[in-house]
Amino acid sequence: MKIEKIIREVCKDFEPYIAGKPINAIKRELALESVIKLASNENPLGASKKALEAIKSNFEDIFFYPDSSSYYLKKALSESYNLPIKNIFTAAGGDEIIELIAKLFFNHGDEILISKHSFIRYAMAVKLMDSRAIVVPMKEGLTYDLATFLKMCTQKTKAIFITNPNNPTGTYNTKSELLEFLRELPLNDKFGIKPLVVLDEAYFEYALQEKDYPNGLDFLKDNPNLIVFRTFSKIYGLAGLRVGYGFANEEIVDYIERIRPPFNVNFLAQVAAAAAIFDKEQIEKSQKLIKEEKKYLYKELEKLKVKYINSAANFILFSSLPFRSGELFRKFLKEGVIVRSMDEYELPYYVRVTIGTHRENELFIEKLKRIHKI
Ligand SMILES: Cc1ncc(COP(=O)(O)O)c(C=O)c1O
Repeated sequence: MKIEKIIREVCKDFEPYIAGKPINAIKRELALESVIKLASNENPLGASKKALEAIKSNFEDIFFYPDSSSYYLKKALSESYNLPIKNIFTAAGGDEIIELIAKLFFNHGDEILISKHSFIRYAMAVKLMDSRAIVVPMKEGLTYDLATFLKMCTQKTKAIFITNPNNPTGTYNTKSELLEFLRELPLNDKFGIKPLVVLDEAYFEYALQEKDYPNGLDFLKDNPNLIVFRTFSKIYGLAGLRVGYGFANEEIVDYIERIRPPFNVNFLAQVAAAAAIFDKEQIEKSQKLIKEEKKYLYKELEKLKVKYINSAANFILFSSLPFRSGELFRKFLKEGVIVRSMDEYELPYYVRVTIGTHRENELFIEKLKRIHKI
């Protein structure tokens, strides 16, 4: 084909991101009447009620372009986190934030450190920019190995992605580990600064219940090389609206503002997110549900002698044995439960399940028993 000749080299063998399958697609494909989705770490309680109210009272204004500066959303974030607006940016989800950072910083030849078995979108963004992803192995127990990150950091290292807690393993790094890592990072001789650290806290609110779980925002003041970002897709239940936000020093935020698409956060997303950030009830109810249901699922998995990884987030990575990941995923699909195959995360004997409502989790366990013929 002639088109291929004009495609950028790095895009020629690009693999698309495999998204969690939507419920209706599975109903259609497998002629199933009832399907539950436990695949994309959405909130089983649904969207923040405050967000829904805000959408209802604003939806008629969608004929206007959104406020390009997301002023009211940033103001709400600023109030909520007690940080100045000049240190805050917003985007169409964490996904866009990752891409904006890549476009802003990554040149051909730059090395970007990412962890094995971590969120796949970092490696995709690195590839898109024709930079080099250096993959750092995980420690036993599938946790980030920050000491090895330090060892693998060279003068070519432009940036480092850290996910805390990590998707898909659910493991996290403690405050003291992260502080030591930030302190020990070597200076880049040419630039006179340390490599950029991108701290992805998509599951921050769930992990708050863990011992010594750090709040990345506490490190911003002492680390001008740090970008922390979060999302409204998870605990706030707004995944369908596509809105995320980040914090960094003023200079970084200024550059992000220059390169981002002018209307990257749509109008309803801005309005909903600005209301959701103050929805304490949503946060507390969701934290409580996930805490209780995690206990229930751990107990049931133990009864079934299925190995799992302790999770600080709203999902659990568990062993797919005696099946391969993709095989167990397909068996669950036939039972009307969408979970997540871990083949693309190089975890061929694990599957990830999002923690659902109690009824959904019971159903998941019932189906697991059926698959294992117990
Ligand atoms: C670790 C991590 N970071 C970022 C994202 C992106 O989320 P969103 O683009 O919906 O904000 C996800 C989504 O699953 C995630 O798991």
